Amino acid sequence: MTDDLIDDFGRRVRYVRISVTDRCDFRCVYCMSEEMTFLPRAQVLTLEELAMVARAFTEMGVEKIRLTGGEPLVRRDIDHLVNDIGSLPGLRDFAMTTNGASLPKFAGRLRDGGLQRLNISLDSLDPERFRRLTRTGDLHKVINGIRAARGAGFERIKLNAVILKGRNDDEVIDLVDFARAEGLDISFIEEMPLGDVSDHSRAETFCSSDEVQERIETRHELIPTTESTLGPSRYFMMPDSDTRVGFISPHSHNFCDTCNRVRVTVEGRLLLCLGNEHSVDLRAVLRRYPGNIEALKSAIVRAMPLKPERHHFTTDGDVQVVRFMNMTGG
Ligand code: GTP
Ligand code: 5AD
Ligand code: SF4
Repeated sequence: MTDDLIDDFGRRVRYVRISVTDRCDFRCVYCMSEEMTFLPRAQVLTLEELAMVARAFTEMGVEKIRLTGGEPLVRRDIDHLVNDIGSLPGLRDFAMTTNGASLPKFAGRLRDGGLQRLNISLDSLDPERFRRLTRTGDLHKVINGIRAARGAGFERIKLNAVILKGRNDDEVIDLVDFARAEGLDISFIEEMPLGDVSDHSRAETFCSSDEVQERIETRHELIPTTESTLGPSRYFMMPDSDTRVGFISPHSHNFCDTCNRVRVTVEGRLLLCLGNEHSVDLRAVLRRYPGNIEALKSAIVRAMPLKPERHHFTTDGDVQVVRFMNMTGG
């Protein structure tokens, strides 16, 4: 069954990102508009449906599942879903991307449920600036969340920082130093043109990974590694620390030729690429054939030829995909 998850360009799908909610308690300026409305509950997959999707993929050879949002920790009973997925045989890497604010409450439960890794968004270490970038976020809660995650014993914790010129590009060294001091990894991300965010001109705020890297190298030597988490990050080590510094560069270092991922949106749409709309409606299959995992698996296999060769993001400020990031979790 494993070989069935191969697309027309010979890429094997080993990593599935599942968005468990479009809701979030933050409104990061690169992710959401200020006046976001959310989906009615009937359109969102139930926890049972989400668990069945995860099971179907792992039975077809997927080794890595990442839960995303929106903010996964605002989904009610998310820890039950984590328990279900955490016990699936075949899963080698089970991770979540979160804004971190609810980790003081959830970190222990998630770890006990089998979640292995956490990625926590952190774009600034200045409380006021953090508030402006997230619109509603409280930096102290997130720092407490990071510490709670460390205390809960996760295998690796990684920070994610989306860098916008003129907004937080002057903080990259401070962010690296924070990661070093806390024993965390950190990835710097180029902003992607999903959804009309209107808060800033994406053409003006674009900051390439090479610029971020150059800044860091004024303070720390970065040694390239071939390490991979199956994700898009290119990792570097520093000689005097265990912290890995990653760069996610959808614009400047396209990684589509090695893409091994698909996404399931919060509405159960199997999305074959973040930067395109090619998709298959898994919710329709789940609701037409309740409990029938074979029907679900064949819908997934039939979707593979729809995976496009690459995304076509540009940095000219145009919205290339109208869907906002919170629908797919990146
Ligand atoms: P690791 O498992 O730690 O490697 O994490 P990850 O980078 O796979 O996941 P994370 O949720 O931390 O995502 C970090 C950034 O990478 C987000 O901005 C995502 O949108 C982006 N990203 C992840 N996968 C893809 C992809 O296939 N294409 C593009 N363009 N961006 C991606
Ligand atoms: N471009 C790049 N990264 C984004 N994220 C959210 N919106 C964007 C965007 N437009 C990141 C968040 C989070 C991850 C899931 O996606 O910072 O870390
Ligand atoms: Fe919420 Fe994450 Fe989007 Fe920020 S990037 S608004 S924390 S989903």
